[in-house]
Amino acid sequence: MADALKIGIAGLGTVGASLARILVERREALAATCGRPIEIVAVSARDRTRDRGIDLSRVAWFDDAVALAENSQIDVFVELMGGAGDPAYAAVKTALSRGVHVVTANKALLAAHGVELATIAEERGCLLNYEAAVAGGIPVIKALRESLTGNTVSRVYGIMNGTCNYILTKMEKEGLSFAECLKEAQRLGYAEADPAFDIEGNDTAHKLSILTTLAFGNKIAADDIYLEGISNISIDDIRAAADLGYRIKLLGVAQRTDTGIEQRVHPTMVPIESEIAQVDGVTNAVAIESDILGELLMVGPGAGGNATASAVLGDIADIAKSRPGAQMVPVLGRPAATLEPFKRAQIRKHHGGYFIRMTVEDRAGVFANVAGHMAENGISLESIVQHSKHHTEAAEPKTIILVTHATMEDSVRRAVAAITREGYLAGEPQVIRIERPKSA
Ligand SMILES: NC(=O)c1ccc[n+]([C@@H]2O[C@H](COP(=O)([O-])OP(=O)(O)OC[C@H]3O[C@@H](n4cnc5c(N)ncnc54)[C@H](OP(=O)(O)O)[C@@H]3O)[C@@H](O)[C@H]2O)c1
Repeated sequence: MADALKIGIAGLGTVGASLARILVERREALAATCGRPIEIVAVSARDRTRDRGIDLSRVAWFDDAVALAENSQIDVFVELMGGAGDPAYAAVKTALSRGVHVVTANKALLAAHGVELATIAEERGCLLNYEAAVAGGIPVIKALRESLTGNTVSRVYGIMNGTCNYILTKMEKEGLSFAECLKEAQRLGYAEADPAFDIEGNDTAHKLSILTTLAFGNKIAADDIYLEGISNISIDDIRAAADLGYRIKLLGVAQRTDTGIEQRVHPTMVPIESEIAQVDGVTNAVAIESDILGELLMVGPGAGGNATASAVLGDIADIAKSRPGAQMVPVLGRPAATLEPFKRAQIRKHHGGYFIRMTVEDRAGVFANVAGHMAENGISLESIVQHSKHHTEAAEPKTIILVTHATMEDSVRRAVAAITREGYLAGEPQVIRIERPKSA
């Protein structure tokens, strides 16, 4: 049997500790599959005294992750600390610059520095694998980077944040408010104490920026994403969506258009009968639409120690199986030097269906006035309904819900602004984009 592949793991938290345990427990089976043993020779974390549930007494300990990356013993540096800055950035850069393969689960790092790191890896002839960075255990990186080579991708979209999907699912199933569901997600450990990064869509945006690059061959543009979170979604939106045959999901969507690439993260209405609408709770899903294959939907665990470690393990096994001198898969799907500048499509030019919910004073002619502003802006309506909440007081505010046929976002914004100027709205109107799978 060939020599052992020697790995150093920086970060022994949820993912790192799961990975270390699996590598120890499955040592023989992995050696048989990969043709060589995989051996942990060094680790790094902040607290040396913390019990990680595994015996690391014979493994070298490094307080400094960069020093671990510099260690001449290791063939692979596994980065599981997280964060776009140091020490993750410095340590990964150090390892790659030395020609040491890197495996990471760190989407924040790749979103910020992916092109630079890919360039170093390619110059140094080593691998930078990151399957766990997007949608946890779902093998979407491999699908886009390798399996779909030759396809032209037109759209990639998905549910890539389990916390948001858990909250939206619970709101719908139990009729609870956003705040109540967020509290429950925090109690169960699905949401961080500071949940802003998840619920405002930033985590999904990091992941989407990586998928966009793999799908369309542009430089990663994580700061160039249209972003709306889910904190503004009310139980009234969810109920109205359900009445109309839709479910609300936080989607990340990247789509090629005539004017550039749309990269957007926002609450989205999807047809209730579509497969992606059935993806509940913390589960993730990624859909890829391409010309040769057609539609591909991958659904699975997007987070958690084991699911994420499974993807990291697959990346390490790929390195263990690779032969020295063999052609390497480009880190970002094509040579980093050939990635094109990102050309952003304006969100105002987005073409699609819209759900609009507005609360209006109960005045004569309001309904017709709303319909009139839609028509003036060339918006064709799939449905328009009006109802009052309790059907008792004649003068209480009414809710008007519109669903448009595919139209330009700019027209919707202009119509809503004109309606707002009329002065009969009670509160802000809610506008949610509708996304339809190609086949729906
Ligand atoms: N958890 C998931 O479900 C999941 C899913 C997909 C991707 N990921 C990604 O996987 C990575 C790890 O996530 P995680 O959930 O395992 O994080 P975590 O539980 O917070 O663990 C982070 C680990 O990094 C160590 N660490 C932090 N700062 C360090 C430093 N300056 N020097 C050395 N070690 C340091 C910590 O040490 P101590 O233990 O001593 O504090 C801890 O062991 C992140 O990039 C995350 O985005 C996680």
